[in-house]
Amino acid sequence: MTKLSVNINKVATIRNARGGNVPDIVQVALDCEKFGADGITVHPRPDERHIRRADVYALRPLLHTEFNIEGYPAPEFIDLVLKVKPHQVTLVPDEPSQLTSNSGWDTKTHFQFLSEVLDEFNNAGIRTSVFVAPDAEMIEHAAKAGADRVELYTEPYATAYPKNPEAAIAPFVEAAKAARHLGIGLNAGHDLSLVNLNYFYKNISWLDEVSIGHALISDALYMGLEQTIREYKNCLR
Ligand code: PXP
Repeated sequence: MTKLSVNINKVATIRNARGGNVPDIVQVALDCEKFGADGITVHPRPDERHIRRADVYALRPLLHTEFNIEGYPAPEFIDLVLKVKPHQVTLVPDEPSQLTSNSGWDTKTHFQFLSEVLDEFNNAGIRTSVFVAPDAEMIEHAAKAGADRVELYTEPYATAYPKNPEAAIAPFVEAAKAARHLGIGLNAGHDLSLVNLNYFYKNISWLDEVSIGHALISDALYMGLEQTIREYKNCLR
C-alpha cells in the first residue's frame, strides 16, 4: 500500500495571514486523518512563515498516523526533530529564503554532512528519508550515507506529464528500480496532483509514500477536504 501523507503547510499559511487560530491546523490534521490520510507532513522553516515550532510540538501527541517532518538540517531543525521524535524525518536541501523545495540533494558532494546528520536521527530511532532527483548515483550515495528511504523530487515529472506521460515517468521508474535494488524505501513528492498521481503510482507500485500539499489543499477549496482526500486515495489504488 502506498501511503498518502498530507502536507499541511498551506493551511498554516492561511492561518498566519490573520494572526489568530483560524483555521486550526491541529484540527485540520486530525480531520485529514479522519478522512483517510495515512500521515501528516510539516515543513517548519526558520522564519516560521507557515508551520511554527509550536505547531510541531502540538501535533505530535495528538496524531494517530505517521508524522513526517521535513526540512533543512540546520542545528535548530535537528534539535526540534530529536525532541519531537516523529516517525520520519525528510532532509531537504533548501535555503531558508526559498519559496519551496526546488531540487534534491547532491548526496555525493554532501555525503559527509548527510552521513553525520542521518547517524543522529538513526540513533534516535527516527526513520530517515533524503529528498533527491531521480538519479541513481544520488540514490546510491543517500543509501550509503545511511538513509532508510529516498523521496523522489517529482516536479519535473509533473511538468512533463501533460505533454508526454511516458517520457515524464521514464527516469522515475529507473530511479525507483535503483532504490529497490539498493533495498531502501521510496517516497515521492512535489507537484503531485489528481492529474498525475495515478499514472505515477501505476508505474511505480512499490512506492511507500507520497507527500502532497499544494494541489490537495487547492482541490479542497472546491471539493472539501473529505472528498479530496478520498479522491487522492483512489489514485493510489
Ligand atoms: N516533499 C517535499 C520534500 C517538499 O518540500 C514539499 C513541499 O513542501 C512536498 C513534498 C509537497 O509538495 P507540494 O506542496 O507541491 O505537494
